[in-house]
Amino acid sequence: RFTPRVFSGIQPSGGLTLGNYLGAIKRFADMQEAGGHQTIYCMVDMHAITVWQDPAALTRNTRELAAGYLAAGIDPERSILFNQSRVPEHAQLAWIFNCVARMGWMGRMTQWKDKAGKNAENASLGLFAYPALMAADILVYHATHVPVGEDQKQHLELTRDIAAKFNHDYGVEFFPMTEPVIEGTGTRVMSLRDGTRKMSKSDPSDASRINLTDDADAIARKIRKARTDPDPLPQDYKALDGRPEARNLVNIFAALRDISTDAAMAQVGGQNFGEFKPMLADLAVEKLAPVSAEMARLMNDPAEIDRIMARGAERAREIAAPILAETYRITGM
Ligand code: ADP
Ligand code: NA
Repeated sequence: RFTPRVFSGIQPSGGLTLGNYLGAIKRFADMQEAGGHQTIYCMVDMHAITVWQDPAALTRNTRELAAGYLAAGIDPERSILFNQSRVPEHAQLAWIFNCVARMGWMGRMTQWKDKAGKNAENASLGLFAYPALMAADILVYHATHVPVGEDQKQHLELTRDIAAKFNHDYGVEFFPMTEPVIEGTGTRVMSLRDGTRKMSKSDPSDASRINLTDDADAIARKIRKARTDPDPLPQDYKALDGRPEARNLVNIFAALRDISTDAAMAQVGGQNFGEFKPMLADLAVEKLAPVSAEMARLMNDPAEIDRIMARGAERAREIAAPILAETYRITGM
């Protein structure tokens, strides 16, 4: 009954890593290429401001994220690519969902508990309501599928709870039960310094991550210095259990090559790190250099980025406005 539609968003909070690329942006581009779905991707600036953002930095980071999407292959004609705040229907539907969701549901969100911590009194009301805005982001397009990482699964369940309660309270079958598209085994990229922690821009050690803006030398150096253990790579992926750093490098290799982890083992099983790391560094440079060059080119022409985003927002509103209007009608507003 619902048009197959994929929605996902990333916060423009600054600094894209190899983790964001392999775990999110490249996956989004792959979903665009796979076809069979309309693909809608967003810079969620309204989520970003739930914690303080310097205004000039927010503007710059929003353009940089747009450049990252475009450089990684998001085609603004085949996908819809835009900035959340430019489509006011997100905020309008979020208000209705604030009135559907229960305080208790929001209070149980582990991300809220982690981010607000012991100082919830001083957290913004927006940080608490964040998952209702996320539900609106998804449901204002009647999105049927959302690619999510582990950390967002609970929020997607809440989205379904909000859709179900709205449908039940108003006696309609209006909002879909959005399905998660779960990441494959290789798509969680871990720190290069500690294989048990996720690669993140918020890690204080720059050596722990590859930034999409790193040059070839920096990429090669970080991979050469990545923490590993002394043993050569095994023949079998399963045998990487208990060797998180080695497994992470194999996962990165497989994801950059676009092959399964088993196929990766067939290529690199038995190698020691003296052979494997330089090969991985070359591969990373080969795959990332064009992305970072294209990002730099786009960042030199902010007016062009803004024009593409404005067009994306217009196309997004063509879908969102009638869904919001129908929501208003259902609620009697
Ligand atoms: P961060 O976690 O670095 O603050 P975000 O939470 O803004 O980044 O994540 C943006 C997107 O990138 C999300 O879809 C998230 O799942 C994905 N992502 C972030 N870090 C990684 C990682 N290390 N491996 C895989 N995917 C990641
Ligand atoms: Na996150």
